Amino acid sequence: MNGIPRRSDQGEEALPETAAAERQQNSPWTPSSATPIAATRSRAGDSREAPSQGRAVVLADLNAYYGKAHAIKGVGLDYAANQVTAMIGPSGCGKSTLVRCINRMHEEIPGAYTTGSIMLDDQDIYGENVDVVAVRRAVGMVFQKPNPFPTMSIFDNVAAGLRLTGGRRGGKRENIKDRVERSLRGAGLWEEVKDRLSEPGIGLSGGQQQRLCIARTIAVEPEVILMDEPCSALDPIATLKVEELIDELKTRYTIVIVTHNMQQAARVADTTAFMLAGELVEVGPTERIFTKPSDSRTEDYVSGKFG
Ligand SMILES: Nc1ncnc2c1ncn2[C@@H]1O[C@H](COP(=O)(O)OP(=O)(O)O)[C@@H](O)[C@H]1O
Ligand SMILES: [Mg+2]
Repeated sequence: MNGIPRRSDQGEEALPETAAAERQQNSPWTPSSATPIAATRSRAGDSREAPSQGRAVVLADLNAYYGKAHAIKGVGLDYAANQVTAMIGPSGCGKSTLVRCINRMHEEIPGAYTTGSIMLDDQDIYGENVDVVAVRRAVGMVFQKPNPFPTMSIFDNVAAGLRLTGGRRGGKRENIKDRVERSLRGAGLWEEVKDRLSEPGIGLSGGQQQRLCIARTIAVEPEVILMDEPCSALDPIATLKVEELIDELKTRYTIVIVTHNMQQAARVADTTAFMLAGELVEVGPTERIFTKPSDSRTEDYVSGKFG
């Protein structure tokens, strides 16, 4: 826990996901001597010519605590670049906590901390002098409940992150329009919203709102996208659209998706990891996890005996 900057924020408890996401996009932190986590990648010029690509994420002996409560216990896990990995397991087993460690949101909860390491390719995201804002730019997050910024238009929802980070990337202001369009196209939403960009984001349907949140996330060109039960508030058709989108997105991003829906894991994930009581029980190719798991607890869970 040493060296991990922390900040207490009462708003976190009231509206954890929205508050944290707004911070992610509208961060008030301006670290002075921070190491840009994504500095190794070339982003010169128009980013259309340099599409981002996913990076591998490796967790080693990761532990996460809420005060004295030990929520994640010694997890080691490799997320391969440009693959979709599903995190499954019964409610309360630590799926959300684990993914929130990967973009350093866990430590935002008062008293919460982690030990162990998380590498993004060769960079330790918990390393000293690492810019937390840069971590959250490189590792974007989509939540269970679509959370567009409520007062903003469709356009501004996507542009929000860009306006704050554009200068750091050397991007020009006039590029924002192009990048908003590209992000909305990337999220499969452009055709549905191109004539109503100035209308409020919260006026969209639930499925559209979730794709808007995905557009907002990809607008800042992350390398990794974390999705915490992104379809659980959506109807089956909207779910299908998001699942199709995930399949497209993995060509450019590394994706970690938490889901309690095993059919969804089977449909979208290359790799599936099963957790129980804060521990990683088993990880492997999705098909094997569902057909020939090596641990009897995995078998019990995937066959519906508990959870
Ligand atoms: N803000 C919090 N403060 C204290 N304990 C928490 C908090 N959030 C989650 N926990 C606890 O951490 C454990 C893992 O929770 P969580 O990561 O939300 O599980 P899952 O996403 O798999 O349902 C649970 O025991 C839960 O009660
Ligand atoms: Mg959860």
